[in-house]
Amino acid sequence: MENKDRLNRIEIIEGDITKLKVDAIVNAANSSLLGGGGVDGAIHRAAGPKLLEECRTLGGCSTGEAKITKGYNLPAKFVIHTVGPVWRGGNNNEDKLLSNCYKNSLSLAEKHNIKTIAFPAISTGVYGFPLDRATEIAISTVLKFLENSKTINKVIFVCFGEAAYKTYRDKIEKLYK
Ligand code: AR6
Repeated sequence: MENKDRLNRIEIIEGDITKLKVDAIVNAANSSLLGGGGVDGAIHRAAGPKLLEECRTLGGCSTGEAKITKGYNLPAKFVIHTVGPVWRGGNNNEDKLLSNCYKNSLSLAEKHNIKTIAFPAISTGVYGFPLDRATEIAISTVLKFLENSKTINKVIFVCFGEAAYKTYRDKIEKLYK
């Protein structure tokens, strides 16, 4: 597939992921899946206590893997919970594990016939993954996945703040356009 066709299915926006009316939003969770700070906290607050109730039945989640729940009070139908790697200097398989988060979230989305999905910048907050490097992995992994995906027609990267937005825009311009 042409680069252009795949790029047309990618959108970069600045904003709060909990407000999006998409089929699924992705949560940057921790392995307990029982909530936390950052985007995880925001998603649990907006979804309401039923989300935590369902999360308790899932038995946690390993780094790089993904699990799905309903979206409850969120405008999104589903939440896909994935656990990003904690940054430990870059030589501890962090790149591969972060890429797995995007890949496994998208595979799970396909299985549920999800057509529109929004990602936060996984691992780049509390987990300390350098934004620049994480952005490159996020974009390249999603583009590669879209090569073989017929069901997913929109992937939105939700940037929290101007700096992240600019990083995503610059990367996509530099690498693919
Ligand atoms: N919408 C979109 N992006 C957001 C939002 C929001 N409402 N809020 C924050 N971000 P982080 P991590 C961005 O720390 O690094 C939690 O406690 C934020 O600016 O949420 O994967 C979990 O329970 C950053 O760019 O997730 C884990 O323990 C990005 O989301 C741990 O943090 C990710 O930052 C996971 O750490």
